[in-house]
Amino acid sequence: MIEREKIEEITRQTDIAALIGQYIPLKKVGKNYRALCPFHSEREPSFYVSPDKGIYYCFGCKKGGNAISFLMEYEKLDFPTAVKKLAKELGIEIDTTKNLKYKELYDVNELATQFYTLCLSKELGRRGRHYLKERRVDVQKLKEFKIGYAPASGGLVTYMRQKGVALERLRKAGLISAEREVFRERIMFPILSVSGRVVGFGGRGIDEHIKPKYLNSPETPIFKKGNVLYGLYQSKQGMRTKNEAMLVEGYFDLLSVFQYGIENVCAPLGTALTENQAALISRFARRVNILFDGDVSGIKAALRAIGLLINAQVDVFVTVLPQGSDPDTYVHEYGVEDLKQKLSAAEDFFHFYKKVVSTDTVEQEVVLIKDLIKIINNIRDPIRFDRYLKYAAHVFDISAETIKREMSATRTVATKPQTRLEITPEEKLMGMILNAREHFPLVKNILKPHDFTEDGLRRLYKIMLKEQDFDIADVADSTGEVLKEKLLSIIMKEAPISRQALLEALVRYKSGIETKKIEAKIREAREKGDDKAWSQYQKKLNDLKKQMLKINWDNVGASSGL
Ligand code: UTP
Ligand code: MN
Repeated sequence: MIEREKIEEITRQTDIAALIGQYIPLKKVGKNYRALCPFHSEREPSFYVSPDKGIYYCFGCKKGGNAISFLMEYEKLDFPTAVKKLAKELGIEIDTTKNLKYKELYDVNELATQFYTLCLSKELGRRGRHYLKERRVDVQKLKEFKIGYAPASGGLVTYMRQKGVALERLRKAGLISAEREVFRERIMFPILSVSGRVVGFGGRGIDEHIKPKYLNSPETPIFKKGNVLYGLYQSKQGMRTKNEAMLVEGYFDLLSVFQYGIENVCAPLGTALTENQAALISRFARRVNILFDGDVSGIKAALRAIGLLINAQVDVFVTVLPQGSDPDTYVHEYGVEDLKQKLSAAEDFFHFYKKVVSTDTVEQEVVLIKDLIKIINNIRDPIRFDRYLKYAAHVFDISAETIKREMSATRTVATKPQTRLEITPEEKLMGMILNAREHFPLVKNILKPHDFTEDGLRRLYKIMLKEQDFDIADVADSTGEVLKEKLLSIIMKEAPISRQALLEALVRYKSGIETKKIEAKIREAREKGDDKAWSQYQKKLNDLKKQMLKINWDNVGASSGL
């Protein structure tokens, strides 16, 4: 847990425009900045950043929040990681117990990496070096991968003891189990997080009798297999500059192509690609070229990856290798120029899908068409969507209308219905209040929580009364998604208002509530036939109206007796 005050200090100090400007080009319009929304595809910019208010909001997809939520959304970080990232840039220290626990794991992994690389370079690592040589891995060229060797005789425990690391920590990092070192006689591949820290290991047995062939660290608090990609840290720069990523299946595939200069490649850790991994790739490249083995399981894995990657809104291409070769064997046998040629002749996912799925029967063809339609339906870019739609219609000789009908029948959750947000008067008032922070002391005097009829607003207002220095987006978080969207849109749209205008709005609002109450009483009296009460309330209503008419709006701040 990071303290609330710390979090507020961090969001307050962060220049949100500078932060978002690091990711997308912002254009200044008045006091705000505008851009094409990074969270949905659009041609006219509807994404706004307000440095004054410390928030961003997209009028198109309704996403909005503060610096922390931007990082979470854009970089796909969890809350504490996003906070820490901002804190680091500001030079603010945050040390939490959880933090320390993670740090212990990172430190152990770092030391283990040192140990394994040391072993590979020493006499102990002769067999490891021999194995790598046989497989034509050039460790010198691949220095940043910190490849190592875990000897048959072990030694990690002794090494750690010398460094003062307790056994318990090795166990937590998954490096020992039941007092035994987990990795032996294996080439060690440290797995790095996006920020370059060792989170776990993959180990390849150097002998075919060593089972399993590959062994990965067990999951730990810092290592979740579905959230990391091998080689991403070393490749992310290449992926960014080329705007393209190669996706391979295995450790050796990755190292072999990387060592020949294809430096924009990553691999899942022996499991099928996950949604998180697809999202991770999409942060660094717009286009993914899948380079899987040309065997049945490779093709199956590719088909699965296609859907996930399209969902992550990247362009997907597939390079098919001849049956029986994987990128590792292929590049060594035919050379990198040949592989590059193959890569540049990659097929788009649609062609690939159509080619590899058998359509011997009409039923199989129907299944294929439906599968492809489902995938295309998830393309958010309107131009690409339209292209593939027309293409599918042409290829399968079906009208675009029929395809569209099928699409709406199988609508997936990915397409969120675009509802117009109806803003109620009290929501509008809350927006004004949030927009005039400097006048909050006055607001406090006039408005009580029960003056709001909507639950969310009442709760929000109570928090605002309690916290001196609330953060708009953060406070809005406590109201639920829809209300938050509305409030952010008001805050972003409305110009900051004067104290005078705010007071006017408050008084009108309060008298509006009062009017409604009295009117209800009048109705009640009439229904009961209580003439006395009826005329009493009627008079009250008239008084109120007169009072409202008499108010000197130029002087309302001083005389607000309401
Ligand atoms: P492959 O069986 O295709 O092996 O597994 P490979 O990558 O070609 O490995 P080499 O060339 O025989 O050394 C592909 C990937 O699946 C994972 C590994 O990440 C491997 O790179 N895997 C494979 C495991 O996690 N465990 C295994 O026992 C086997
Ligand atoms: Mn292989």
